[in-house]
Amino acid sequence: MVEVLDLKFKELITSEEIQARVDDISDKLNERFADKKPIFLGILNGSFLFIADIFKKLSIPCEVSFLKIHSYQNTESTGKMKELIGLNQPIEGRHVVILEDIVDTGRTLDFLMKTLEIHNPASISVATLLHKPEAMQVPIKLDYVGFEIQNQFVVGYGLDYNGYGRNSSSILIKVDD
Ligand code: XMP
Ligand code: MG
Repeated sequence: MVEVLDLKFKELITSEEIQARVDDISDKLNERFADKKPIFLGILNGSFLFIADIFKKLSIPCEVSFLKIHSYQNTESTGKMKELIGLNQPIEGRHVVILEDIVDTGRTLDFLMKTLEIHNPASISVATLLHKPEAMQVPIKLDYVGFEIQNQFVVGYGLDYNGYGRNSSSILIKVDD
């Protein structure tokens, strides 16, 4: 059992299991984008270790850039407004690969893809380390998925609980006490 702030977690996916999936996804990306000069867009903060591990395994000509999605409450409606920060590179005509830590409801990715599409990239693909199929509310095609997990809160390998837990090398899942 691992404590992160006031919550208890247990190991769900080991560091070795993560690295094996990272290797597999990197192999597929190297093959798929060999002659495409893709641009990888890493979504901070949670994906920073996944981005780094994938990027080290890429042997093709490629670029990486980092984006943040800022969510805030609209003062007038209950809907969550989102803003994309850091897209300061032209992606028109480029093959874009989004690197995400986790796709939960799919709302973040839906917003991201709609925003990127406005800039007319040649293609948009998605690689996510984790996916919670039961939580998905917006149907989005995920091209590369590391692990499908149950609909429960997880931390580790970059993912956090109120800022903590990112430094666990394995993925930890919340346990009820
Ligand atoms: P949606 O619901 O938009 O969520 O697909 C995507 C973003 O929400 C965060 N998220 C999590 N963060 N443990 C975390 O540490 C989780 O279990 C979790 N589920 C969603 C994450 O930032 C993701 O990019
Ligand atoms: Mg995230």
